[in-house]
Amino acid sequence: MIAANWKMHKGPRRTRDFLGAFEPPDGVEVVIAPSFVSLRAAVESGRRIYSQNVHWENEGAFTGEVSVAMLQEIGVAGSIVGHSERRQYFGETDETTAKRAEAALAAGLGVIACVGETERERDAAETESVLRRQVGALPRDERLVIAYEPVWAIGTGKTATPELAQEAHTLIKSLLDVPVIYGGSVKPENAVELLAQPDIDGALVGGASLDPESFTAICRAGIPS
Ligand code: PGA
Repeated sequence: MIAANWKMHKGPRRTRDFLGAFEPPDGVEVVIAPSFVSLRAAVESGRRIYSQNVHWENEGAFTGEVSVAMLQEIGVAGSIVGHSERRQYFGETDETTAKRAEAALAAGLGVIACVGETERERDAAETESVLRRQVGALPRDERLVIAYEPVWAIGTGKTATPELAQEAHTLIKSLLDVPVIYGGSVKPENAVELLAQPDIDGALVGGASLDPESFTAICRAGIPS
């Protein structure tokens, strides 16, 4: 799976422009996660579209949130949950991440749940305990996909080495036997080497997914040889 996380980029017009120009190769599962306001425009492309978040209740007094049923009504196929930016800036916790994942999975949506240590945690040799805690909180569901995204590698240009990422993926898979994709400064230049690791099952791409050419190049790197 090669997934694009567009974060707070691209309104409906830019979303249509991108998807009109985007021709991913066959043989790789491509997911695009635009902002909420661009979901509908994205779904029109016929691609597999995920939201960047989802709430666990069906409806109610939850200002600013969007439910599973609302996403399904417009043809959204899944959701990212627990992204480190949500954890860092918007108070997302292991518990709320799990509730979002459970509700989405129960309704038949796909889920990419994000985990990963901060730089301070890595420097303090806490990576393993952080990953055990974060993965341990997630629902046991074979349809779940986990994204390992070391926080220090997101948007910083500091990619984890393939060996370091592989090590974290092996640990995560020993805790929960599901596909694990890597995120954190994935680019056309480093995608082949990262995706060649035996336990790296795909990529979650931020910055380099905003341009159709670079994202297509990363999708190509994801075709199993
Ligand atoms: P990045 O973001 O590729 O820009 O580092 C990845 C992500 O946050 O999902």
